[in-house]
Amino acid sequence: MNDDLAAHQFAEAVSGLAPVALRSAATLRLADHIIAGHDRLPALAEQAGADPDLLERLMRFLVCRQVFDEPRPGVYGLTSLSVALLDGHPSRLRSWLDQSGIGAHLDAATTNLLQALHTGRPPYPELHGRPFYEHLASHAAGTPFDGLRGAHAESFAAELVKSYPWPADGHVVDLGGGTGVLVDALMRAYPRLRATLLDLPDAVRLATERSTAADHGDRFTAMAASFFEPLPSGDVYTLVNVLHNWNDDDAVRILRNCARVAAQDTFVLVVERLLDESDPYAMTAMDLGMFLFLGGRERTLGQYQQLASVAGLAHVGTTETPTELRVLTFALARARLSGA
Ligand SMILES: C[S@@+](CC[C@H](N)C(=O)[O-])C[C@H]1O[C@@H](n2cnc3c(N)ncnc32)[C@H](O)[C@@H]1O
Repeated sequence: MNDDLAAHQFAEAVSGLAPVALRSAATLRLADHIIAGHDRLPALAEQAGADPDLLERLMRFLVCRQVFDEPRPGVYGLTSLSVALLDGHPSRLRSWLDQSGIGAHLDAATTNLLQALHTGRPPYPELHGRPFYEHLASHAAGTPFDGLRGAHAESFAAELVKSYPWPADGHVVDLGGGTGVLVDALMRAYPRLRATLLDLPDAVRLATERSTAADHGDRFTAMAASFFEPLPSGDVYTLVNVLHNWNDDDAVRILRNCARVAAQDTFVLVVERLLDESDPYAMTAMDLGMFLFLGGRERTLGQYQQLASVAGLAHVGTTETPTELRVLTFALARARLSGA
């Protein structure tokens, strides 16, 4: 990296202005207004409900950083960066950053990293008065989060269905299955497969709507329940992007619940990205985020094996997928299998 670039990047990192400018652009939906033809002041300011003079100065800041383009003086366009700020972009980045939505709650916790380093406790519950998922459930932000998670699940569900040898006429129990994107894809791919989705009420409601629209009938069961409580029976339990939300003790509690209800031929699938095998930029950020919001963490294969072993489960294989997600398959540990 040349020195000028490094100095620029360092200046950006210490200023803290760029994140706020980007969040403002996202919240004001600037990319959408520009693409809709409101590409010059004062029309852009009027659409965004922003002060024209300050908006012009914000645009100058963002154009200079290639977030927006200015092909002619005072006329704005999108770049490959601001395309990702369009409301309909698959990343749903705009919604994640929107300061009138969940973005503000997440950012408030993020700015408390220093406090967390002192206390060792996740700031989100203290800031918002209750743990992450309880806070979402009590707040209008709950359903949009489920929608955002659902949009993310669309990006990997098809690959996950193709990559793993699912039991064609078995019963899959998706724990923390969100809005049902994965079980829907599974039931479409395997017409005799049954699925139970267990999640909190907001997610279950959306999953039920999805299943009804797909006409899955009684092959689909929705359970508004907690995976910390006794689980329904099934052939395969899936925990997709779930365990990284939880600290080690809670992750073991969830896995132990699976082990309690498991038979000898039951599989428990932990589907996660692995800390040491995925894009380090994304994973180190996700690892800190999991702690700040939920007290969770990203883990290596060895760390998942260790947790499962405490819960009475043994690792029997890993399946790669075209995404960074890995399917870690666990079954009752040999000691339990032999009745020891
Ligand atoms: C990170 S999301 C993963 C959703 C989905 N599996 C996916 O990969 O897109 C975690 C899910 O766990 C659910 N969840 C949180 N606490 C739960 C609990 N105690 N019992 C059941 N589900 C819970 C959340 O509602 C959310 O849908």
